[in-house]
This record gives sequence, C-alpha cells and structure tokens, in this order.
Amino acid sequence: MPIFFDENKKTFTLETAHAAYQMMVDRDGFLLHLHFGDKLGGGSCAGLIDAGYMDFSPAPDIEGTNRTYTLDLLPQEYPVFGAGDYRSHCMAVTLADGARNPELIYASHRILDEKPVLEGLPGLHGACETLEITLRDRWTDLEVVLLYSVFAEYDAIARSARIVNRTGAPIRLNAALSACLDVPESGFDLIHFWGRHVMERQVERTPITHGKISVDSVRGTSSHQHNPFVILCDHMATEDAGRCWGFSLLYSGNFVACAEEDQSCSCRVTMGINPTGFEWRLENGESFQTPEAALVYSGEGIGALSRRYHKLYRRNLCRGEWALKQRPVLINNWEATYFDFDDDKLVKIAEQASELGVEMLVVDDGWFGNRFDDNRALGDWIVNTEKVRGGMGKLCERINALGMKLGLWFEPEMISEDSELYRAHPDWCLHAPGRGTSRGRNQLVLDMSRKDVRDCIHDMMYTVLSSANFAYVKWDMNRHLTDVWSAELPADRQGELYHRFVLGVYELLERLEGEFPQILFEGCSGGGGRFDAGMLYYHPQIWCSDDTDPIERLEIQYGTSFGYPISTVGAHVSASPNHQTGRVTSFHTRGVVAMSGTFGYELDLRKLSEDEKEQVKAQVKQYHKQYSLINDGDYYRLLDLTAQKDISAWEFAAEDGSRALLNIVYMHVRGNFQPPVLHLRGLTPDASYRLTEDNGREIGVWTGAALMNAGFRVPRSNACYPAGATDYAAFQIELERIG
Ligand code: DGJ
Repeated sequence: MPIFFDENKKTFTLETAHAAYQMMVDRDGFLLHLHFGDKLGGGSCAGLIDAGYMDFSPAPDIEGTNRTYTLDLLPQEYPVFGAGDYRSHCMAVTLADGARNPELIYASHRILDEKPVLEGLPGLHGACETLEITLRDRWTDLEVVLLYSVFAEYDAIARSARIVNRTGAPIRLNAALSACLDVPESGFDLIHFWGRHVMERQVERTPITHGKISVDSVRGTSSHQHNPFVILCDHMATEDAGRCWGFSLLYSGNFVACAEEDQSCSCRVTMGINPTGFEWRLENGESFQTPEAALVYSGEGIGALSRRYHKLYRRNLCRGEWALKQRPVLINNWEATYFDFDDDKLVKIAEQASELGVEMLVVDDGWFGNRFDDNRALGDWIVNTEKVRGGMGKLCERINALGMKLGLWFEPEMISEDSELYRAHPDWCLHAPGRGTSRGRNQLVLDMSRKDVRDCIHDMMYTVLSSANFAYVKWDMNRHLTDVWSAELPADRQGELYHRFVLGVYELLERLEGEFPQILFEGCSGGGGRFDAGMLYYHPQIWCSDDTDPIERLEIQYGTSFGYPISTVGAHVSASPNHQTGRVTSFHTRGVVAMSGTFGYELDLRKLSEDEKEQVKAQVKQYHKQYSLINDGDYYRLLDLTAQKDISAWEFAAEDGSRALLNIVYMHVRGNFQPPVLHLRGLTPDASYRLTEDNGREIGVWTGAALMNAGFRVPRSNACYPAGATDYAAFQIELERIG
C-alpha cells in the first residue's frame, strides 16, 4: 500500500522505492504540498509550513483579520489564479458572472487500486495505486479532481487534474495545467532541452534565480524547439549525486514548463497545456481532463533519474505488441532515393539489404498520388501505380519473398493544395475565413478536430494498410500549426482548437493502431519534432532527428537520453559525406552511434564497398547480440557533453552486472591530446571483466572496482601513427564478467 492517509494530521503520504511524496489539508481546507524527495521514515513534514506574514500578500477571507496567513507563501498542490497567490498557477477560470477567483478547498478523497484511463489522452498504465482528491471552490460547485498514480518502483507519480463544472452555468477555462511542485528552498538549476530542426534536444542547464524561466511551445506540437521534459536539480547535482526532479508531460501539443523562484526564495515548477492560445468553454455538468505529467524523483543524481524514466516509459507507457519486442533492423529508402524510386529500384535495394542481414524495407515519402516532389499530393493516400506497379500487395510479396518485412510512410495530418483531397475539400485545412493561409514546406494542416476529416484520412489509410502484409508505419508531420481556426467550431470556441487538434490525432492513432495491432508504428515530425511522452503511448519508437550525421547525433541522442529510453530512439546509419552536414565519417563510427537506438540503415546499400558490406553484416550481428543489453540494460552517460565536446562516452550495463557495453566516439581531437579516463558504472566491484573490442581485439582484464573507481583510459585510435587519435574514431567495447 504505497498511499497512506493520516486522519488526525490530515496528511497524505505516497511512498515509492526511494522516495516519499507528502501533502496535507490545512486548517482552512487548502491542500498544501509538503515534500517530494527522499524517504521520511514514516514522519510528517507539516512543520515546514509557515503560513507567514508578508506585506502585500493578502490573507483569504476565511482568515478574517488574521495578518499571518497568505496563500502567496504557501506551497500548493494546485494553485489557482486570482485568489491571492501571485506566483505561477495551474488553473485560471472565468465563472459565469465574470468572477475569476475560485478558492479550492479539500472536499473528499479515495484510493483506487488501479491506474484510471484518461479518456482520449495518453497515460501511464500497469499496476499502481491512485489517490484521487476532490477540491471544491469555497463559493461555488466548481470541482477539481487531482489524480496521483504511484509507480513505486520508479519513484514516479503520474499527476493530472479533472476540472468539473457543477456551478449551474457555463464557465471558461483560461488555464488548466497538469501539475505543480513547490520546494521551499532556492539554489536549483533547470535542465531543459532546446533545439531546432536537425538539432533537437540540446541540453541547457540554467540556474533558477528570482523570476520565471519557462520553456514552451505554441506550435501546435511539442516541437523541435523545446521538449516537454525538464529537470529541476540541486545546483551541485551531477550524474551520480544530488537531488533532481523530472517533469515529463504526456502530451504532443502546446505545452509550458515554468520554474519560478519567488519573493520568499522558494521554488515552484508548473507544467501543462500552454495557456497561450487556449480557452475552453465548460458547460454545466461537463469536465475537462488535463494531460498527465510524470514526475520522477532521484536523490542519486541525474543518471538515476534518467534510468527511472527509461524503465517507466518502456514498461508503463509504451503499449502493444512492439513495446518490449525486438525491433527489426530496417532499411529506409529516404536518403537512398528521395522521391526518385519505383518498385524495381526498391526491390533491388531490398535484395542487397536482405543479403546483408537487414530485416525490413521502409518505403518513405513519395509512393502515393502525384507525389514526385514535396510540393504536392499530401492527402491523396492512394498508391501511385506508375511508381509501385501492381500496387502494395505485389511489392509486399516481392519483399516478403526476400525474407523481409515491409513498412510504409504516411503524413496523415497534412494536405497539399495540389491534391485531389484539397480540390474536393478546400475547407478541410486549418484556415480563418477571408484570410490567407501560411504555407510550410508548401503544405497546409488538416483540421484534425473534425471527425469527417479524420474518417476520410482513416479510410484511405485503412485501405492501403489492408492491401498488403505491412509490418511497420512511419507517421510523419512536417510543419507546425498556423491559422488555427475551424469551420466546425463557433467563434467563442476557437480557443479549444489547438487541444482538439491533438485529441483528434490521438483518436486517429488509437483507431488505426487498434485495427492493425501487428504493425510497429514509428513517430516522426521532420525528425524529432514530436519526440514526447504523449507520442510514445502510441508509437514505441520515434525518429530522433533528420540529422543523420553521427557526430551531430551524439549530442541529439545524448539529450534525448535524459528523459527517454534507448528503445524509443530511431537511429540509422546513413551515407558519408553526410547529407545534412557534408561530414565524412567511417562506417564503423556511424554504426556505433546508430546502434544506441532502434538501428537501421538509410542509404543505398548497393553503393557500398565490399568492405563496408561486410561491416553491415557484422553490425547487424552485433546489434542482435547486444540488443537486450542496449534496450533492457542500465544506461550511463560517462562524459558531460555540456562541459566538453571532445569525446562522447556512454555505457550499457546489465542490471546484474554480468555484461556491459562501452561506447566511445572522438568528436574533436586537439593538439597533444591526452585521452581522458572514464569511470565505468554498474559493474560488480570484486568481479573480473574481460574487455574486448567489437573487432575481436582483446584489451585486457580488470576488476569492476578498478574500472569504476580508478577508471578506464580512452584508447587511442589506431588510425594514425604513432598511435594517437583522430576525429570521429569510435570504439565499442564489450565487458564480460569472467569471475
Ligand atoms: C521528414 C522525415 O523526418 C524524413 O525522415 C522523411 O520521412 C521526410 N520527412 C519525407 O518527406
């Protein structure tokens, strides 16, 4: 029973493997946050509360003339705008009479022994207990139901809120966030993940000082630019030590994560749907469910925090047949052919791939309608039989005959003006009447909030997917939203459209994935523009970035690893010189980097040298051999890429310490370079390990303690003489416990 309620002290305690989350109902009925951190030994931290005195911070009406109580200083589970707490809030609401100052008071609670499904939204699943606390406005029957599901093994609390209008009249939600965490201290950092197309999830660590730091998206999707995952941590926290709190939103649309240090030097983090562009009309009797935020705590540094998210998301977020199943090594034709392909060319690529051990061909953009370039045909999900003669059924037979599976690309949320769909339904895209529309990649965005639009796209996709034995779908999305106006919504409900768009996308995904449970879905948005925990509920893997340069990828995959498991990271070996950067790297280096992901190829394998072809065979073999270690093992970042960018090093270790895989890539070699020492992790201290390179060369035998405590010197590259180092050399070293 991880959830306890102390009736006398009116205290709730949620116990996890290493942590405790505690809150209390105070004398006025406000639900105050007490603690989310290391265990409390069964004790209460109610003594932390100082309702305080602060000029210019008013007391609520219930306190009468008492000048020593203010919501502006109190830590709160679900702070509300307008009633005397001037810090960042979770809810802002306009009641029917225009009043905007509800006061949420504890009404009741219950403990469920399951994880409630959030209708129409992604959510964690699996065995857990859930605490449901109902708060009610002191003055009306506006209710907020707070949900806390405890995933004890991972020190994770899944939080969301349901706002229920029982006021007897319609109300307007101006903000409805998912979670808030108050920590009554200062001196924290915020780690967040910024980027742009082909440069996603760059790690930035910023001290939190007085005021607010917020990262957000108003692009209609979670975006390349900011990720809905942030970490609050002690200023001194490292990979291995210090307190840190992760905030991860299971949502794929506009979001905000805000960290604030207030006048009393306390820290507050809020996360949820971005209130910018959001307004929701809630009729009497209706409710609004916020997305879920997964909060995870680690008192043992950022590395442990990441490992908890990895396990939680792999086991309790990803769903379906493919969540834990070994993924096929694939060849994707995008960078091999772009739009210039036909069935024979695809089969030739597949023939070469199958000889080398590759297991699936993915036909990317260009197989449908009049799609000879990226200016047309989105929305016409009908096979172009000039390119794929005999249709998908025939192509699939030819690919299956090679012993390979077949996968297909779609971009369901988009429409080209030059398409049959647009000519038939020019009103189906997001657009405001009498105004122009912005184009991105010369495409418009379909109004996914509309059922008729979703039904039409569904039916086309269903027809194609039923026409052949498909094993995989890549679901792409190549522009952000503008002109967010729907012909289906009245003027005073247009503020609901961003969220309704996301709900529509989720509904279509749910429908298709239910109809084709055998298909592995990979998410994509111009690479990793929608790499979020919401999408992972529908797709167990997401194309990490359109940047396939292995050296650029080191930083992108590094950033991604903070909040997302390796099994979700789509990664391919592509051509050299690289198509995004022109950088030349060895085939080996490209393989080492792509192997820390779902692994596949994205180049014309027929153009490889015989030596490179042999390397493909060896890489596929190695990937199969290391699959469980890479995907089920513990992942350790060994060097901080925000502190230096000369070498990247990371390790996978089996939970029982029996094996490990060490990966090292030289990113930039400087004059008179002295390779650094790495402190390995996750090994059995007093056992011996044999270290062998992926080319079979034995490096030596060390004890686990020596490798972890004294360290392992990064090898010099053999590529230069006398043995020195070169840019982009990579090492993959297997550690086997031998006694
Ligand atoms: C963007 C994706 O990220 C690429 O991999 C490719 O599928 C293109 N779209 C196709 O248009």
